[in-house]
Amino acid sequence: MKEKQHEGLLEEKRLFFPPEGFCSKAVIQNPEIHELGQNRTKFWDEQGKRLDWFKPWDTVLEWNHPFAKWYVGGKLNAAYNCLDRHLEGARRNKAALIFEGELGDRRVLTYQDLYREVAQFANVLKSYGVVKGDRVTIYMPLIPETVIAMLACARIGAVHCVVFGGFSAEALKDRIHDSRSTIVVTADGSYRRGNSIPLKANVDKALPVTCINNCVETIIVVKRTGQPVDMQDERDVWYHEVMKNVSSVCPAEPMDANDMLFILYTSGTTGKPKGVVHSVGGYMVGVSTTHEWVFDLKEEDVYWCTADVGWITGHSYLVYGPLTNGSTVVMYEGAPDYPEKDRYWEIIEKYRVTILYTAPTAIRTFMKWGESYPRGRDLSSLRLLGSVGEPINPEAWMWYYKYIGGERCPIVDTWWQTETGMIMMAPVPGITPLKPGSCTIPFPGVHIEIVDPEGNLVPKGEGGYLVVREPWPAMLKTVYGDDKRYEDTYWSQFGGAYSTGDEAKWDEDGYFWVIGRVDDVINVSGHRIGTAEVEGALVDHPSVAEAACVGKTHEVKGQAVFAFVSLKEGIVIRDELIDELKAHVVLKIGSLARPDDIFLTAELPKTRSGKIMRRLLKDIADGREMGDTSTLADVAVINFLKKNIDAQK
Ligand code: WT7
Repeated sequence: MKEKQHEGLLEEKRLFFPPEGFCSKAVIQNPEIHELGQNRTKFWDEQGKRLDWFKPWDTVLEWNHPFAKWYVGGKLNAAYNCLDRHLEGARRNKAALIFEGELGDRRVLTYQDLYREVAQFANVLKSYGVVKGDRVTIYMPLIPETVIAMLACARIGAVHCVVFGGFSAEALKDRIHDSRSTIVVTADGSYRRGNSIPLKANVDKALPVTCINNCVETIIVVKRTGQPVDMQDERDVWYHEVMKNVSSVCPAEPMDANDMLFILYTSGTTGKPKGVVHSVGGYMVGVSTTHEWVFDLKEEDVYWCTADVGWITGHSYLVYGPLTNGSTVVMYEGAPDYPEKDRYWEIIEKYRVTILYTAPTAIRTFMKWGESYPRGRDLSSLRLLGSVGEPINPEAWMWYYKYIGGERCPIVDTWWQTETGMIMMAPVPGITPLKPGSCTIPFPGVHIEIVDPEGNLVPKGEGGYLVVREPWPAMLKTVYGDDKRYEDTYWSQFGGAYSTGDEAKWDEDGYFWVIGRVDDVINVSGHRIGTAEVEGALVDHPSVAEAACVGKTHEVKGQAVFAFVSLKEGIVIRDELIDELKAHVVLKIGSLARPDDIFLTAELPKTRSGKIMRRLLKDIADGREMGDTSTLADVAVINFLKKNIDAQK
């Protein structure tokens, strides 16, 4: 079935050109831009000039495989580029953030407002002893204070580690400890579909007083929901109290281009999430260039990225890219169906949004709800649509194009990763014709290839492993505290190219069609879940002996977690056990990792050398014919699973 899907994709021959009038006004109209990008260092040297530097760089790239230094010798500050440099001219009173709360409350912060609050909060952080290089964990709802906290860190050279508010206390704890953060910024709670998620209580669980390894001295709490929280004297303070009477003068720290800007944790093939490290210079150049060109950004655009800042999309295309470019950013705190299923369309109508950047899983959800919801709202302000997080199936692409874009908005399907920091493949909309389901071609100055297991380029029309051949400015610097893991995970296969973990094909026109992950990572609603992490959470339960998780194809989420679990000897199967196991995964990781299915079995299918054969389990989860079973130690195990799971369907 998977094979069929690829063939279907390559049969997709429809080409879409930008509407009349789009190209002649586009930011990029030069059809040779991709060729210019082939002189990579020259290209990125040019793009470096779009930022404000305290000191210009001496060398654009020092490449000491697999460690890159971009804009060597340059000094700059990310918050300065997002704020201070817009204060001179007409942008000073332009809306930087238009915030819409789930309950319908609204706040607009101009560039001047945002500048002032960031400088004040930076002074607050300083007063709690935060200095350049210290790590600050941010565990927050999607509210303006989250952006303020991030930029305040950047302003004084502290390293932010944003942890998505949907992660559990245990997952938060691991991230606080791995980063050795000294301060946590959080909120009392976060609204979600009218309920509230107890963020501060989760922080308290993550940091019990007796906790070893604990370097956290201060917790700053933003009042959002007003729910009761325990404030511990000495350690916990309210944001609104510590911000009182604080000076709004705080010089931006001149940072080395290769100093750390932030750490963001993401799942990999082992149980322990990786702290992906991004640095100031290259990252800022990369996100600024791609944000302007891919979204065809104009001064008057109202740009809405629906991602949470807890993910890389929020970092690069809700905060750093758009603010560096001086755009007006809409941020919405809540769920797409609260209070009604037309909430997104209501927001677009209300603020006359011109650019919408969202995920295929959301689009498929809207498709399921039906077109009457978008039809009931005025979406005529939209002029460009974006997609990110997973492959977008041509059907969803067409629906997005027709019912949201009114057949007049180009769709930019953007392929990239937490590690790449910036968009790596996407159309440049004024010059790249679109094909539904393809992220088209690499961005100028980015060198992507599809290779065989030895790292040799595969011919057009074929598929293989997706790799990045040359360093790019926003590339991750390392895995926090673990250079070896960085090298082993990303740079040791495929003849020394950067391994993305994805599989892709390219067609006769050189267009790329990303198929999905080839490692043990599941993409659930555009979020990366490591199978090893979910398995680790399951075996942590006292009844479980072994667990194996696979991604099952899911109509809306793209993939869902399907877990096969064997119980310890003597454990009696109870009705509640499956729910208990699901709850245990939520406790250990968060609800985003909750398995849709758990199947209890006496044994898991293994090879003679004892390796669990996930490939076969995936075949079973997807209800298709099983692949080669000849290396199994005991075929009866897999036959039993197949028979019973097919029977349940
Ligand atoms: C993985 C990275 C980058 C922001 C969100 C996810 C998949 C991402 C696309 C796309 C096909 C995509 C890949 C990639 N992916 N965008 N446009 N088409 N696949 O970031 O959590 O680091 O996940 O998401 O599999 O490796 P992430």
